[in-house]
Amino acid sequence: MSPKRIPFIAGNWKMHLGLADAAKLAREIKDGVGAGDAEVALCVPYTALIVVAEILKGSPVRLGAQNLHWEPQGAFTGEIAAGQLADAGCRYVIVGHSERRRLFGETNAIVHKKLGAALGAGLSPILCVGETLEERESQKTWGVLAEQFRAAISGLPPVEAAKITAAYEPVWAIGTGKTASPGQAEEAHAFIRKLASQAHGDGFAAGLRILYGGSVKAENIDALMAQPDVDGALVGGESLKPISFLRIIHYTTPAAAARN
Ligand code: 13P
Repeated sequence: MSPKRIPFIAGNWKMHLGLADAAKLAREIKDGVGAGDAEVALCVPYTALIVVAEILKGSPVRLGAQNLHWEPQGAFTGEIAAGQLADAGCRYVIVGHSERRRLFGETNAIVHKKLGAALGAGLSPILCVGETLEERESQKTWGVLAEQFRAAISGLPPVEAAKITAAYEPVWAIGTGKTASPGQAEEAHAFIRKLASQAHGDGFAAGLRILYGGSVKAENIDALMAQPDVDGALVGGESLKPISFLRIIHYTTPAAAARN
């Protein structure tokens, strides 16, 4: 990855953990992260936000949520607004995860509205894009990524767009144990960076952090992070296991090894 971009490892706990286990895991991660490590964020269930915020206070580990509603308030039973997440101590929020798109009908238009709402409340969105297996096999990957990415950031002022982190999460690699090869990840990340450059210029593209997500684990993080356009990881299952997640945070690359 480029030395200009700060590496970023985010955990997506999805719909896991009660309060006691959430607090325990947050403490273990906080205690294992040191100065000089990648930036780290924990995207926890809504119910755990306050408890984990308290634990992370004063530590470099950031708090994130996994979803939001696009309206600032109102009669939207069961929804949570961006301002409420900021109030609870969130810095980050995942937007457009494939599970939201696939299981909850989130369209590109909804993702765009959510991105704007997150930015409006001062949150940094982690914008997920990615193709299904069927789309990859029918050579639609680049079209799908272009449509998802462009629709999400269309019309955003560059200064706002600069607060976004992108995440390439091929749907076929999520929770399947089947990771994209480092070459496949790099190819997609380089393509997303090209889209970013077309949207807001080379400076924006060079600063955009692009995370890889999909069966990231201790065994594959080093090879992924060795790719020039892979700036970090969005980790699902393995972020629930403190030893594995800390190993992912403490990834090594040939460049890092040469510096030590
Ligand atoms: P897994 O790491 O469990 O494949 O999940 C990836 C993911 O969806 C992160 O947002």
